[in-house]
Amino acid sequence: MLSNFNEATRFDEFMRFALYDPKHGYYARGEQIFGREGDFITAPELSPLFGQTLGKALREVLPRCDGVVYEFGAGTGQLACDILQTAGDLITQYNIVDVSAGLKPIQLAKLKALHGPGVEQKLRWLGELPTELRGVVLGNEVLDATPVRRFKWQNNNPLEAWVQHLNGELQWVWKPADPAFATTVSHLQATHGPWPEGYESEIAEQSIAWVKTVTERLNGLALMIDYGFHEAMYYHPTRSKGTLRATSRHTAHDDFLVKVGNQDLTAHVNFSSVYDALTSCGGELEGYAHQGEFLLAHGILELAQKQTELTHPTRGALMRQNLNTLLNEADMGEAFKVICWSKGVNAEGTPLAEVFVDKDRSGEL
Ligand SMILES: C[S@@+](CC[C@H](N)C(=O)[O-])C[C@H]1O[C@@H](n2cnc3c(N)ncnc32)[C@H](O)[C@@H]1O
Repeated sequence: MLSNFNEATRFDEFMRFALYDPKHGYYARGEQIFGREGDFITAPELSPLFGQTLGKALREVLPRCDGVVYEFGAGTGQLACDILQTAGDLITQYNIVDVSAGLKPIQLAKLKALHGPGVEQKLRWLGELPTELRGVVLGNEVLDATPVRRFKWQNNNPLEAWVQHLNGELQWVWKPADPAFATTVSHLQATHGPWPEGYESEIAEQSIAWVKTVTERLNGLALMIDYGFHEAMYYHPTRSKGTLRATSRHTAHDDFLVKVGNQDLTAHVNFSSVYDALTSCGGELEGYAHQGEFLLAHGILELAQKQTELTHPTRGALMRQNLNTLLNEADMGEAFKVICWSKGVNAEGTPLAEVFVDKDRSGEL
């Protein structure tokens, strides 16, 4: 497999291969990567209360979007299960768009087990981005899983990371950045620097292109949840190694070029660039909030209290611990953000819009 890189390959293409190559890519491994037995735990895998609260938050918006949902990167199907639990009566069609097509049987089995075989009538799997997105667009931890371009600031010049198979292993090759990329990096350093010599970070060109395409095609509402921060924090001089990270068996590290296809690669989201992208395509920001504040304001604790398991001697303790992880500022509560925008549909007067007014942090973007 390393022979694929006998020629120098730009890092974003290497990352695409490592994650999404149908044969060798990380996501081709299917369900085994998710959850406690896998490599990482996402919010839906941690607690069904996450998706149930999201479903509740969307209830008044769904009828304005014809009851249609498009979930991108649906993982094991857990989020779909939980959203359907609290908003299923308002959902006419639940579309799953995933670059990992191999996850479909896993998602379908999970959805049928929880909601019965009848749920299939509402479900559709789409191999590519539809030309019109009339509905609610959702994605949890999708933007961070998009290939990024990596740069280094050296001798007052931007270099770009390429990868090459040399002497039996993959090695970094740093080449002068092409003119357009050099201009972008130089602008970031002029705005957020001066950066120390050898400063490294990344630019998520592909996820920005994705946000633009989605917004161009949107006639509804988009809500994305992910870890990341605003641009000044992203490119702060002290973050000198960037945000790229490899994860395997719940351990994050920076050996990005080993175990190709057997470890996850992700980068934090620059939410300021998401904001710039969506507004440049006619999208209107509904709000930007910390995950913990968003879930609390939409009644996650009230939902939890209704679950009889909460008081179970052992399962109750685990449920409370997972809830804490979702909400706590020192954990996912603050590291994860919710960004929401609309186009062609007005969310005014709905609890979703009101919570965003109350908890809005878009001034940071
Ligand atoms: C980290 S997983 C998150 C899975 C799930 N949302 C969860 O929270 O458990 C990222 C998922 O996003 C998918 N993905 C990445 N880029 C995508 C894109 N452009 N369109 C659709 N799915 C994408 C990947 O295939 C993968 O299933």
